[in-house]
Amino acid sequence: MNTFFRENIEAMKGYTPGEQPQRIGGWIKLNTNENPYPPSPAVCEALQNIDFKQLRLYPDPVCCELRKTIADLYGYSDKNIMLGNGSDDILTIAVRSFVPEGGYIASPNPSYSLYPVLAGIQGAECINIPLESDFSMPANFAELAKKASLIIIPRPNAPTGTAFELEKMRNICREFRGIVMIDEAYADFADDNCVKFVKEFSNVIISRTLSKSYSLAGIRLGYVIASEEIIYGMMKVKDSYNVNMLTQKIALAALHDQKYLKQSVAQIREVRKYLTDALKIRNFTVIDSQGNFIFTAPPDKDGETLYQQLKEQGILVRYFPGKATSQYIRITIGTKSEIDQLLEFL
Ligand SMILES: Cc1ncc(COP(=O)(O)O)c(C=O)c1O
Repeated sequence: MNTFFRENIEAMKGYTPGEQPQRIGGWIKLNTNENPYPPSPAVCEALQNIDFKQLRLYPDPVCCELRKTIADLYGYSDKNIMLGNGSDDILTIAVRSFVPEGGYIASPNPSYSLYPVLAGIQGAECINIPLESDFSMPANFAELAKKASLIIIPRPNAPTGTAFELEKMRNICREFRGIVMIDEAYADFADDNCVKFVKEFSNVIISRTLSKSYSLAGIRLGYVIASEEIIYGMMKVKDSYNVNMLTQKIALAALHDQKYLKQSVAQIREVRKYLTDALKIRNFTVIDSQGNFIFTAPPDKDGETLYQQLKEQGILVRYFPGKATSQYIRITIGTKSEIDQLLEFL
């Protein structure tokens, strides 16, 4: 059939996001790693103070105030920061910036299923590098990735929750000749992170999001931390006004309330431990998680049936078909009461 699409778009499947039931209520929604607690009350105040007349104006194209605020949080300069419409936008900008048509990105397998899709859109290929059987990073990752111009590693990894050893991450950054992008969407829930790598290596970029730890998936805000030269180049690729005015104001309010962030993260880490222990007692295999979710296999290793059974009970979790993942389900850390309802069913 005649098609208007580029060949690679015609051939690819597109990304499948987790289910977002539009009927609010009735579900215990533990499938897309949203935060179960509301955002900071400062966000509510910021929303109330927005003058609707200002909506006729374009937003600040480079988000000056946000850049400065984020730079101060990590001890970088505003020239080291660029904002995006969620970290998915940051990932898209990175692929468009660093990967030529016909080129390669490399990422661990299993990891975030958007990466191969972004490669496909670019007319590039994704080298899926298998993790070890315990989902740790293979020592020869950089060697296996050497054809690529961009490596993307989520840390903590999704869907497994594993935080790859810092020294292994350093070795990859040292050995690889292209850009190493560390996707830290879940880093606020982890014991450590790689933000300082930007000072140690000229080829490292870190992406972050307000979707998870700040409970702001709905406003779409992500950012990247990198060298001034890299930010300068990536700025050329982004859409002119990629972060809207409402998002900029809300994000500023949330970022200024670090006390609330810490409380929210502490609660999630506590329930994560509670769920981990409870699953282990029930003879589930549990991968130690540093994110706001747990990757776990039931004793009969049939992830798909458990996913379906939970869905019939109104409990949505995520199931990933495929050799490395089909024994497991991924459960987002909800409130203690949501997790108790899940455990009661189990
Ligand atoms: C590893 C990883 N990176 C990035 C994202 C995208 O986050 P955002 O909402 O900022 O686009 C997700 C979302 O689930 C994720 O799991």
